[in-house]
Amino acid sequence: MTAPAVLLTGATGYIASHTWLALLAAGFKVLGVDNFSNSSPEVLNRLRLLSGQTPLFEQADVCDGAAMQSLFQRHRIDAAVHFAAFKAVGESNRKPLDYYANNLGGLITLCQTMARHDCRALVFSSSATVYGKPEQLPIREDAALASTNPYGATKLMSENILRDVEQSDPRWTMALLRYFNPVGAHESGQIGEDPRGTPNNLMPYITQVAVGQRARLQVFGNDYDTPDGTGMRDYIHVLDLADGHVAALRYLLQGKRSITANLGTGRGHSVLDLVHAFEQASGRSVPYDIVPRRPGDVDACYADPSLAQRVLGWRAGRDIHSMCVDSWRWQSMNPHGYAAPPAR
Ligand code: UD1
Repeated sequence: MTAPAVLLTGATGYIASHTWLALLAAGFKVLGVDNFSNSSPEVLNRLRLLSGQTPLFEQADVCDGAAMQSLFQRHRIDAAVHFAAFKAVGESNRKPLDYYANNLGGLITLCQTMARHDCRALVFSSSATVYGKPEQLPIREDAALASTNPYGATKLMSENILRDVEQSDPRWTMALLRYFNPVGAHESGQIGEDPRGTPNNLMPYITQVAVGQRARLQVFGNDYDTPDGTGMRDYIHVLDLADGHVAALRYLLQGKRSITANLGTGRGHSVLDLVHAFEQASGRSVPYDIVPRRPGDVDACYADPSLAQRVLGWRAGRDIHSMCVDSWRWQSMNPHGYAAPPAR
């Protein structure tokens, strides 16, 4: 049997690059596409090193219909995993039209091109952001949905678009995966998260303080309704997340029904839990100041991951310690991310 061929959009990004390796290890053929709007071509060199094969890659923008059409004409593609999107909440408030155009335009162009080429299996990167301010914890997939910023709105609208598409033609089969908070890196230290400019998210900020690039962490609020007053989130190792995509693709390619599933661990950790776990794992100290809350943040957000376990046979096995060890290995071996060769 020939290996199923999978298109990865946004392929050189943080979660996609780890998923790329996991798919290769699982025997899939992978074609990556990215426009490098928020990632580095150096990822491809690292993937070559880690996989022992030259990654099949094309530079293109998923919003470019002609480029997508040409890609599907020249390659056999059995399924797509759609990662390509803008993802910064603050930026989305400043540039809402860019977010709607890119995130919705890319999705629509991809789906139109797929349908034209009789390819109707899709894994979509959604987010726990679609739960807005959760009313109940842990969060189940049937919880109320809401968006609190343009980025979140694009994820919610994308989910709605995909449900309409699926309803319109039963040949579509889709996995809408709602990620909680991805952290960690490949255990080789060769690929990891490399945010441009000041990190918005907690873990890359912590690692940049630990490596000496930033002086102190700002902890956004210690008056939340949580045991230590700092915000609680469901941190999930990016390698577990990558395995979740493999499980979802296998499921879809068996001709199963569409699914919307949380990908989280089911455990909540506070900001200070993560700081302390990181200090222990790295042996570095992470000085911090408590500052006012960040607008839009919620007290706590963690998944009920039982649906993915039941239906996809997947669960996140890596704990907070290994998330911190692997994040630190990546950051310490690559103090400047992909901009410089890794330290040995
Ligand atoms: C954020 C986005 C979410 C998006 C996700 C993508 C917001 C409000 N939410 O999730 O929509 O899907 O990233 O990765 O931006 N924190 C600090 N100091 C920092 C950074 C964060 O104390 O410098 C705290 C936050 O208040 C929060 C926790 O750390 O309690 C996690 O923050 P973050 O990593 O930004 O993730 P989310 O806010 O959960």
